[in-house]
Amino acid sequence: MTVLEVLQATTAYLKKRNVENPRLNAEHLMAHALGRKRIELYLDFERALTETELAPLRGLVKRRSEGEPLQHLLGTVEFCGLTFLCDKRALVPRPETEQLVERVETRIENRELRIVDVGTGSGVIALSLAAKMPEAQVLGVDVSEDALALAQENAARLNLSERVQFLKGRLLENIEDAFDLIVANLPYVSIQDRHTLSLEVLHDPEVALFAGAQGDELVRELIDQAPFRLRPGGLLALEIGLGQSEVLLSALAEKNYRDISSENDYNGVTRFLFARYG
Ligand SMILES: C[S@@+](CC[C@H](N)C(=O)[O-])C[C@H]1O[C@@H](n2cnc3c(N)ncnc32)[C@H](O)[C@@H]1O
Repeated sequence: MTVLEVLQATTAYLKKRNVENPRLNAEHLMAHALGRKRIELYLDFERALTETELAPLRGLVKRRSEGEPLQHLLGTVEFCGLTFLCDKRALVPRPETEQLVERVETRIENRELRIVDVGTGSGVIALSLAAKMPEAQVLGVDVSEDALALAQENAARLNLSERVQFLKGRLLENIEDAFDLIVANLPYVSIQDRHTLSLEVLHDPEVALFAGAQGDELVRELIDQAPFRLRPGGLLALEIGLGQSEVLLSALAEKNYRDISSENDYNGVTRFLFARYG
């Protein structure tokens, strides 16, 4: 079979098994199996594939059809224009979170910042901000040692280990410094909503997904803690879950934050909250 024929057959197979964007998935998996760039497949459509080339692809396609995330199979993910290692040690970074990074950037004037990324996971927020702001010092905090190990690997690959440190801790509990920016994409799924999650999402670590019975417990706790760790006028930037904005905006107001605002993601969901303190 030629590259094009295998691509078409793989797309049909993934579509039948309800994989979203089957053609894109097929292209990524084939490029990965052949060790080529996705775009290069288009120059090679008529080439016949050997059995040696097809064998690894079959395994990948089967795993993808069984719900394993594409990013785990590829081992990497693109985020804010950078390539990060991605595996089961931490949450697969989501496109919404790229929007969080972009929106934080528009709110920052002085770039010689001290930043803490709470619930850093694979380190995508901490490392993307560090890459965008060469004068910033960044700390990534997480309760998961697995996630922190992956974040360190990502920092080393991106040559950012000098300016980005990682620390094990629960929210801001192990931290004594003060920051200009506290940014967080914490777990915000309610335990009761477990049954609504896709097979792909269930490959993420539980500690990265679930907060408590409501879903907003950890974000609320961070809203309580952040005033003690923000420099005067410092910014708190949060990614939150569907339907959580009203109650969390009230929590920010009750704690005397100022310049409180919210923003929608590209799907029209109120997904990001921003507030300053002091
Ligand atoms: C939704 S994931 C986000 C990961 C990464 N920031 C991203 O956007 O892709 C949440 C992260 O918070 C961490 N986490 C969970 N509970 C925590 C807590 N109490 N304190 C600090 N980190 C926590 C998890 O281990 C996980 O890495």
